[in-house]
Amino acid sequence: MSWVEMKVRGLREEAEGILGLELCSVSGDGLPFGWTPGAHVDLQMGSGLVRQYSLTNLAEEGCLRLAIKREPESRGGSQWLHEQLRLGTRLQVGTPRNLFALQPGTSPVVLAAAGIGITPLLAMYRACRAQQRPVHLYYFSRSPVHSAFLDQLQSQPDVSLFSGLSSAEIAQQLPGLLAGRQPGSQLYSCGPHGFMDCVFESAIVAGWPRDVLYREHFQAPLQLADAPANQAQAVQLMLTKSDKQVAVQSGETLVAAAARVGVEITTSCGMGMCGACMTRVVSGEVDHQDQYLSDAERASGMWIMPCVSGCSGNELVLDL
Ligand code: FES
Repeated sequence: MSWVEMKVRGLREEAEGILGLELCSVSGDGLPFGWTPGAHVDLQMGSGLVRQYSLTNLAEEGCLRLAIKREPESRGGSQWLHEQLRLGTRLQVGTPRNLFALQPGTSPVVLAAAGIGITPLLAMYRACRAQQRPVHLYYFSRSPVHSAFLDQLQSQPDVSLFSGLSSAEIAQQLPGLLAGRQPGSQLYSCGPHGFMDCVFESAIVAGWPRDVLYREHFQAPLQLADAPANQAQAVQLMLTKSDKQVAVQSGETLVAAAARVGVEITTSCGMGMCGACMTRVVSGEVDHQDQYLSDAERASGMWIMPCVSGCSGNELVLDL
């Protein structure tokens, strides 16, 4: 991932507590990158934080569109964006990455969103419509005023909107909505983890194969964000490029240990999901705890995500 400076070209209230943001290139020219539905970008806040947000639009539009929910427990990310952004504000934006890609093809697509989980699914919905691919979007929100993008969605025959339902009521609705799967259909879900679990459980009961169920991964559970899987045992960390070494303490991340000897590892999510901290391993046995690397990358022994992963031996040598 690399960083690009972009400019705020549009701001609007998408729903109560949800800020719609449009970013364009500083020069006004087209964007130097593309993306596919389900992609997200990293935004650098002025406060130094980096947060990930899904793109709601298609690359052909030549700008980035995002929707940012103001989180009551925000540690400075969404709160900063809601309070500080103005038209013309410049932001450092990471080039888009996709951990939740819409699978290519023509098979029918079912989308199940709750709350701000509508954002990547809106891009998928629009892509399916543009490709004339069969799609149906189920969107659950707290109330009509908390429902984003209603102007685009409420009159569409392939969209079902639900608001004001309790978790138990949603759980009652889902089996009926997911019954009668068309052959080849794929199911994508994004929203709170309890919601996605419920969608998948209902789908499996309704006969959906597991390998056609897709869910957003970069929105880690809050407890994971607050407590990354730290090194379980003490290990000696050697950093070849900077010629430093440090004893990683039990309960400490490799990123934190490296920082103690002045070696900053770029991080973004801090949860093993975004890929920002991917580092080459020189030697040592990695205890992989991330959700970013492929099985082949893990098996190669060449890579580690040091924000969450550790070492199962006594010594780890990294190319830092
Ligand atoms: S910082 Fe995101 S994977 Fe490590």
